[in-house]
Amino acid sequence: MKQQGIEIIGFGKNVGEKVVTNAMLEKIVDTNDEWIVQRTGIKERTVTNQSTAKLASIALENACKNANISLEKLDLLVVSTTSSEHIMPPTSGVILKELGVQKQIPAFDINVACSGFVFALDIARSSMMDGSYEYVAVIGVEKYSQYIDWTDRQTCILFGDGAGCVILQKSKVGKISEAYLKNKLDINSSLHLEATIQSNCPFFEQPKVEQTYMKMTGQEVFKFAVTVIPDAMSKLLEQLDITVDTIDYFVLHQANSRILDFVAKKYKVPQEKFFMNLDIYGNTGAASIPLALADMEERNLLKSGTKLILVGFGGGLSWGSIYIEIP
Ligand code: ACO
Repeated sequence: MKQQGIEIIGFGKNVGEKVVTNAMLEKIVDTNDEWIVQRTGIKERTVTNQSTAKLASIALENACKNANISLEKLDLLVVSTTSSEHIMPPTSGVILKELGVQKQIPAFDINVACSGFVFALDIARSSMMDGSYEYVAVIGVEKYSQYIDWTDRQTCILFGDGAGCVILQKSKVGKISEAYLKNKLDINSSLHLEATIQSNCPFFEQPKVEQTYMKMTGQEVFKFAVTVIPDAMSKLLEQLDITVDTIDYFVLHQANSRILDFVAKKYKVPQEKFFMNLDIYGNTGAASIPLALADMEERNLLKSGTKLILVGFGGGLSWGSIYIEIP
């Protein structure tokens, strides 16, 4: 498998301004801190009253500062989200407007739910290899709080709002592999968010549309996750011709600590190698992996030579993995 000459030169994050603890959820649904922590590992999450684009734009600004480059240096922006407030314009365009970026660069959104950041990173990587782009920003952002039924204890305890961003630069020493990416039809709609659109097309009779929220069949998604994560990890290791013990950190989509523990045990890898911050952010969808990377960088875990495998999984159903070596 090809490893491309691209490196991450900046990390940025931004989470919701309000922390929602398990104790606060106990007051609105029939749940308790012990159940949530035991079943998910989540202690608190954050929610925002800002727009999805605003949440992301601060993460992008922070990543550019961390990379020590101006926003005007960017050549391409790829945003992964499933929770924008609007269909047009894309969130990526709104982010650039929000930040007053003058340079007219290509910017687009992708929607691959919680696998989105791995897909977006691979799109950015291949675009950089084939094109003239020097600096590229990749953002994962979700404002799930607006699509959650806050009376449904099965979903409202799980999700949080946040954004994470990386800045990529072409480099002789950087190594980011081709990704391993997969998708299969979600036959039973185990992860589902219907757009609430009341059509008024006059040529058909229109049924009244009710407001809909995110739906998840937890146990089915759990079984899916513990099947596809090993697939994503093993296939990537095979393609790179390396063994699991050569990897310093596995950065998995932050859905549930039990999923992370299951995979660690399966591969007989110490749990500390599975970075976890879902206890403070909950499941932030496409934002969870770049948020984890930004926190790892803050904690000084990403040193020269550090080898990482990122694994995304979620709606679609979709899953994917990618290898990064810090130069
Ligand atoms: N508080 C207290 N009790 C609850 C709660 C709650 N918040 N939610 C459910 N329960 C009850 C249920 O009603 C059930 O009660 P019963 O036994 O009397 O019927 C019992 O707890 C067990 O419920 P389960 O749904 O079987 O609980 P489970 O152990 O499966 O945990 C969970 C649920 C946490 C959702 C788990 O299935 C899970 O993490 N699934 C995977 C989620 C995931 O990975 N998502 C990633 C993708 S998300 C994306 O792509 C957008």
